[in-house]
Order: sequence, then C-alpha cells, then structure tokens
Amino acid sequence: MSGLYLHIPFCRRKCPYCDFFSITATDSLVEAYPKLLIQHLAWATEHGWSGPVDSVYFGGGTPSLLKPEAIACMLQAINQRLGLAEDTEITLEANPGTVSQHSLAGYRSVGVNRLSLGLQSCNDDHLTLLGRVHNRQQGIDAFNWAREAGFDNISLDLMFALPGQTTAELEEDLRTYLELGPEHLSCYGLTAEPATPLQQRIITGELTLPDEEFYADAFMLVHEQLTATGYEHYEIANYARNGYASRHNLGYWKRHPYLGIGAGAHSFQDIQWGRRWDVPPDLSTYRQALHDWQEPMRCLETFDRQGALSETIYLALRTAEGVSDINLQRQFKTTLQEAFPEAVEKASPWLCRKGDCTAMTPAGWLLFDHLIQAFL
Ligand SMILES: C[S@@+](CC[C@H](N)C(=O)[O-])C[C@H]1O[C@@H](n2cnc3c(N)ncnc32)[C@H](O)[C@@H]1O
Ligand code: SF4
Repeated sequence: MSGLYLHIPFCRRKCPYCDFFSITATDSLVEAYPKLLIQHLAWATEHGWSGPVDSVYFGGGTPSLLKPEAIACMLQAINQRLGLAEDTEITLEANPGTVSQHSLAGYRSVGVNRLSLGLQSCNDDHLTLLGRVHNRQQGIDAFNWAREAGFDNISLDLMFALPGQTTAELEEDLRTYLELGPEHLSCYGLTAEPATPLQQRIITGELTLPDEEFYADAFMLVHEQLTATGYEHYEIANYARNGYASRHNLGYWKRHPYLGIGAGAHSFQDIQWGRRWDVPPDLSTYRQALHDWQEPMRCLETFDRQGALSETIYLALRTAEGVSDINLQRQFKTTLQEAFPEAVEKASPWLCRKGDCTAMTPAGWLLFDHLIQAFL
C-alpha cells in the first residue's frame, strides 16, 4: 500500500518564518489549482504510478483555502485513478484563520477524517510575532468547531522557543493544548530558515532566538508534560495518543512509497534501493508541463545500497521505535552494530535497546543532527 501527498502551494499571507513553497493566494489560483492536481494525477497514473493508497495528505501551504467541494472532486479523482483503501487516513492541514463551522463540517462530510490544525501557540503576542492570520480565540474556536463537525482525530501544531518566550508562557500554551485534548501534536522549535524575513530580523539584531539551553529545556518540558498525560513521543517532533500516530508520516520514516503531486511536492518510489522525485517549486513551469503533457516531476536521487542503508537508519532513529535489526538483516543483510560499530559506540549514551531495535533517547534527539553524522 502506498501514500499520496497533495501540495497546495498558497496561503492567505506568508508567515515570516516559513520556507515551505507557497505564494499568496488569489481567487483565480484557488479556483484553478485543483484541476492541475487532477491532471497531474492522470499523468502519473498513465506513467507507472499506481495505487491503491491508504493515506492521503493535503499539505501546504494552506489546503483549508480550498472549498470542501474541491476536496471532494480530488478525492473522487484519486479513487478513480489510484483507488482508496477502505480505512484510508485522509488528512487536511488547516490554518485556523481560514476555516468556519461550515467549511469544517464540509471537509468532514466529503471524507476528510484527520485534521491537522496550525494553531502554533495560544499566546496572542506570540501569534502576532509569528505573523499568523489568527488569534488565540480563533484557534480555540477552530478546534471546537472541528470537534462539532465530527473530527475525532485532530492534530495541533505547537511552536516553541520563540523570541522572548518564557518557560511560564510555554507552560501556559501546553496547559491550553492539553485542555483542548487533541489526539496528536506536532511540536517544533522555531528555526530561522535561510532567506526568510525572520532570519533577516535576527541578522539585523531586531529579534533574538532563545539560546540552546532554553531550547533544550523547552524541548524536555514539552516531552515531560505530554508523556505524563498519556501521549507517546513517537518521533522527534510528534506525539500521539495510542493508535493516533500519523500513518502518512510513519510511512515516510519507514521509506514506504508515496506519490507527491502539486508544485513543490516530493515522492518516493521503492524500486531497487529507492528513488526520490520532486516537482519543481514553480507554478508556471508546472502549469506549462501539464498543458504540454510533459513530465512534471524530476528524479532527484537514485539510491545505491549504502545510501539506502544510511537513509533507513537516519529516518528510523528519528522515531521512538528505532532501527530494527530484523529489518536491516532482511533488506541489507547486516545489523546496526555490524554496519556502523564506531557510530554506535559514540552515540551509545543516547541509545537504548528495545527488543531487536535500537532507538535514540529524547536527550539523544536533542543532539540528533550531531549524532547522526557518524551514520551517514
Ligand atoms: C505547512 S505548515 C502547516 C499548515 C498551515 N500552513 C499552517 O501554517 O497553519 C507546517 C508546520 O511547520 C511548522 N513550521 C513551519 N516553519 C517553521 C519554522 N521555521 N520553525 C519551526 N516550525 C515551523 C509550523 O508549525 C507549521 O504549522
Ligand atoms: S500558513 Fe503555514 S505554509 Fe503558509 S506561510 Fe504560514 S506556516 Fe507557511
């Protein structure tokens, strides 16, 4: 079984910290874009990509700028072209400033069964600093409306380590999130991505990000509060109640195949040692390619055995399950210890063993970028 990712590359307004591919939405683009996605789907299925799929993910950008009717049309096309498994996880990313009771009820009624809400924070000053198009109350309303609409699988995004943020403010955010009681949370420390307005403000000294010590304390505070209240910290940035880990994301970390459509989307094929593809993040090139029935995607990387082994380990160590020796034996005829004895030795204070798996501890995840180097 494979997954399908649909990239929706527009937002009401660009957030100053964000480097995802998205431009400012216009009515004509919002209207025309779903047809491009349906054309891309037709192109892909006529050129060797096949289903059925058991996870569909509308990501962005801001998919909640699309009307429920447009989502319904795309789901119908996906079912016709690829086939949807009976219990397919269908996720839609929604920005709280772009939804209403009506639109949320509409998404649920056309088959979306998982909502990922970009709440980010419940502190109005921080939401303003992040340039969000919603305030605290709109975020809380959106969550409650989603529940009323029948969503029983909601994920909330939380951003922490914000400029000027105190521990008490983060604790207050966590309290509010826990009162809402989502099934899943994605928690990200704010990063200054290259060439974003946020990075510019940091370079000029207008803003300062918290230091490493605050970041580490905040990461561990989030971990402790959420695990103490019954969430599993199942990947560096992700927490879920039992049975609510994101199927889409788990597939990505396990190197399961998925097709990504839309300008800026990525795909993975499990042919031989694996291939990664992308669609260039440029709308006019994308439109032209589909108009001319030319390949809208390009192959970015064809893995050899060593590359596939390193990537398998890199992705698995991000998860609480860790790297399975049984899987490594089956796929690569080796174990973690055999393939990377020195890296295992170096990282050993931050590794733990669970059955046939080796996993990183949460303290290890804090040093992930550094520790993983020896495995690459
Ligand atoms: C594509 S967006 C989610 C949906 C929607 N666009 C929204 O913002 O509401 C993915 C998530 O990545 C996180 N994110 C984006 N840029 C980030 C950055 N520079 N630092 C930390 N988290 C970031 C935010 O939590 C954001 O909600
Ligand atoms: S709404 Fe989401 S995708 Fe759009 S700019 Fe903001 S963080 Fe990025």
